[in-house]
Amino acid sequence: MAIRPILEVPDPRLKTVSTPVETFDDDLRTLVADMFETMYDAPGIGLAAIQVGVPLRVLVIDLQSEEDEEGKPIRAPRVFINPEILDPSADYTLYNEGCLSVPDQYADVERPSSIRARWQDLDGKVHEEAMDGLMATCLQHEMDHLEGILFIDHLSRLKRQMVLKKLEKMRKAA
Ligand code: NI
Repeated sequence: MAIRPILEVPDPRLKTVSTPVETFDDDLRTLVADMFETMYDAPGIGLAAIQVGVPLRVLVIDLQSEEDEEGKPIRAPRVFINPEILDPSADYTLYNEGCLSVPDQYADVERPSSIRARWQDLDGKVHEEAMDGLMATCLQHEMDHLEGILFIDHLSRLKRQMVLKKLEKMRKAA
């Protein structure tokens, strides 16, 4: 396993539309293992393959929302290959989102509150599940990456420019 560098805005590769996974082999397992290691190290709760420069429809998510007796997050890693969203709800939820490719910047984004998702696992087996709350938000955010869309692309032009300026300032200060 290895930690891979995370692409950040304005890297043009983040605008790539990722292609479906067709071969469920050891290379795919290595990619997913590296993505988890990279995400936990960052740290973050979700990562799309394109964020480490691989244009494949692969996502990893771990909300780590449960805590053990010592207050440490319990890991609950999930892999989504070739994910699809079915039946997005008509009602929307606002969530203050962030992204490892837009470091330390946050903004409110509205997305359907609940969805059904269909995806494949590392063996190519198909799964389907109803999701709501942070899991629904996170999966939709990560799936945007597969289309080359970042959460800041959901903001108004003015708000997006404010976020990018703040990021630029932060980079200069570092
Ligand atoms: Ni993101």
